[in-house]
Amino acid sequence: MTVQIRPFTFTRSDYAACVQLRNKLYADTPATVEVWQHNDRLRRQDRSYHFFVAEREIDLASHEIVGYVQCAKKNSQSRTVGLGMVCAPTCWQNGVAQQLLDQVKQIAAEFKAADLVQKVQESDEQKLSFFLEQGFTQVMRHPLSVLDVGRFDGGRFQNKWRQMEGAGIEVKQLPVNWQDDLTWQKLVYTLDWTLVQDVPYYDKRVQEPFERFIQNEIFHPNAFPESYFVAWDADRPVGMTCFIKRGGGIQTVSTALTGVIPAYRRRGIAFALKLASIRFARAAGIETILTHNEENNPMFHLNQRLGFTQKPAWLDLKYSL
Ligand SMILES: CC(C)(COP(=O)(O)OP(=O)(O)OC[C@H]1O[C@@H](n2cnc3c(N)ncnc32)[C@H](O)[C@@H]1OP(=O)(O)O)[C@@H](O)C(=O)NCCC(=O)NCCS
Repeated sequence: MTVQIRPFTFTRSDYAACVQLRNKLYADTPATVEVWQHNDRLRRQDRSYHFFVAEREIDLASHEIVGYVQCAKKNSQSRTVGLGMVCAPTCWQNGVAQQLLDQVKQIAAEFKAADLVQKVQESDEQKLSFFLEQGFTQVMRHPLSVLDVGRFDGGRFQNKWRQMEGAGIEVKQLPVNWQDDLTWQKLVYTLDWTLVQDVPYYDKRVQEPFERFIQNEIFHPNAFPESYFVAWDADRPVGMTCFIKRGGGIQTVSTALTGVIPAYRRRGIAFALKLASIRFARAAGIETILTHNEENNPMFHLNQRLGFTQKPAWLDLKYSL
């Protein structure tokens, strides 16, 4: 089979072909062209973003995309390049994945990257074998947890709600249309940064500029501003949880972040935030909540207690250049 590696063209037809390939392989979490275009616009600004496709010649007049790789620095200051490679099953062993990876290594060398990181779900055996054989090693493991909202039994956790109220904390949904108000936008920006710094990660975190954060948090096609719940100690925000949509819809959502500032931990606040958001999910008609947590994060065990069931984990695999 003749396969050519070429840059992605950012045309409607390349987007459609790559999204179609991806959704065939990962049907549970479908992507959309609109979401990709939004992400690409942001990534192209300052993160040395590159995107290559592997195209198979069917006959002289037609081609088919059988694999692709996107790569970008993890943030503007990072020397780690995150890559997202997707290939048709035959391509992991027939040299196509190898060609895509070689292309990434060449790009990474040009901007003196220190390492590459690729996420692989541990059930994706061919992909996992490919990266391990290439010398990638696991640096983090994040089990995927899933909640069937319709079967959730919140009554069992009333004591947790009382624990939080007893500590003088109130959990409230952000006001309707908070996203149109600069004061609320800034509050969310600041609180998110305070909380996210404690989420386990393999690289140094860098706060995004405010404008970029808002583009991602509010104007992203998967943004879900109605799902923001904040825990308050009087007028001080001390914790937050929120969802993002999957594939632009709300049938399945993911928890984007749940966090509580250090001085307020172990008072049942995260538990209460999660209970409030699950209650919201049920009322909004959400069927499934997905979440990934690093396996040693207390949040992982908290989710298990809430009734989330564990699915194959995502692994962060790293390669030192
Ligand atoms: C994880 C986190 C949100 C928990 O917040 P919290 O308000 O302290 O959690 P709660 O008080 O509601 O704890 C609920 C349960 O979680 C577990 N838990 C919470 N923190 C724990 C810890 N440090 N060690 C062990 N278990 C812990 C316990 O089972 C606890 O129940 P218990 O107090 O009855 O034993 C908080 O530690 C945090 O903000 N961490 C940094 C951000 C982060 O990693 N978020 C998750 C990834 S998005």
